[in-house]
Amino acid sequence: MTYDVDALRAREFPWAARGERIYLDHAATGPLPQRARDAQAEANLNRAELWRVGFDYFWDGVVRSRELSARLLNASPEEMAITTNTSMGVNLAARALPFKAGDVVISSAGEFPANIYPWMGLEKAKGVFLELVPMKHRLPDEDALIAALDRPNVRCLTVSWVSFATGAKLDLVRLGAECRARGIWFVVDAIQGLGPSTIDVKACQIDILANGAQKWLLSPWGTGFAYVRRELVEALDPPAVGWLSMPASADFTRFLDYDYAFYPDARKFEVFTAPMHDLKAMAASLSLFLELGPANVEAHVRSLADHVVAWCEGRPGVRLITPADPLRRAGLMSIAVDDLAAASARLTAAGVSHTVREGGIRLSPSLYNTTAELDVALAAVEPR
Ligand SMILES: Cc1ncc(COP(=O)(O)O)c(C=O)c1O
Repeated sequence: MTYDVDALRAREFPWAARGERIYLDHAATGPLPQRARDAQAEANLNRAELWRVGFDYFWDGVVRSRELSARLLNASPEEMAITTNTSMGVNLAARALPFKAGDVVISSAGEFPANIYPWMGLEKAKGVFLELVPMKHRLPDEDALIAALDRPNVRCLTVSWVSFATGAKLDLVRLGAECRARGIWFVVDAIQGLGPSTIDVKACQIDILANGAQKWLLSPWGTGFAYVRRELVEALDPPAVGWLSMPASADFTRFLDYDYAFYPDARKFEVFTAPMHDLKAMAASLSLFLELGPANVEAHVRSLADHVVAWCEGRPGVRLITPADPLRRAGLMSIAVDDLAAASARLTAAGVSHTVREGGIRLSPSLYNTTAELDVALAAVEPR
């Protein structure tokens, strides 16, 4: 299938096709494609008059979300737990993995707090130590992270795949192999990478992956998923116990048996009831990625990011914070200029959604953006 961005815009993002807004802020929150809006609107109507549809209508959103997210990750649905955000998946890792006092968790300085506070909570609860490896030239230092794995008592490495501040992308295949060689758990916050980049959790040897779908996966707030490697699904006890995690609860005549036996799959980590209407929308959004082809989406977003790199090269008063190497970035591009506030004001005046983070203008284009839209944004960023 050819990647027809005009047809995609007309069908799924009609406001973009009409030129109502240049939306380059997917690193903050993604808009919903038309199919997700439709699914959500229909599900909300059905929720209001829920006797009109059976429960299976809503449950289908849960089942499809597990299946489709598994396909995006090269996992199996049995390894997927539906969550409401990234933090739930990170907390699952921190609280389910069998840490003991004195164990060390390695991460990088500059991490988004969603991947820090749950581990600080673990420090307080269990006497585990979180050690943050300093950055190099303000980017996560992959070599130093690997060197830190050989410190005493290291049990876990937890990283963001792509940095929220700089857009720097880590080599998960490399990090995963280094962890596995040492018997160290590998936990990944994938929210800033998945969508603009493709991933294979098996090739990366990831133990637990946490992902909110509200940004790059163009899904409602309160939707997300966690991947738990099959062997760990069996081995780990869920830190929060849900009633629908037990097969006994699937039989609504057996509620009061209180049969404390989990499903043998990642449903054991889910704590229901979830936002069912929003999960219908997440399933719709994930289907868009799979229909377009995750690799095609990646190629499109990379070409947009390449455009930003080329524009920054040699331009006076402009410094690209994001690594120029295409293997070291995804869709999040951060540009430093002297007067960030003025550049941001010009972007706003030009109708460009963006954010200012950690010393850079953050432009984060997605699967339906165009180089023409980027040109409007870059002209506004250009120092005066
Ligand atoms: C790296 C990273 N992790 C997590 C989050 C958000 O966490 P949650 O989905 O739990 O709100 C963000 C952005 O807000 C982020 O940039």
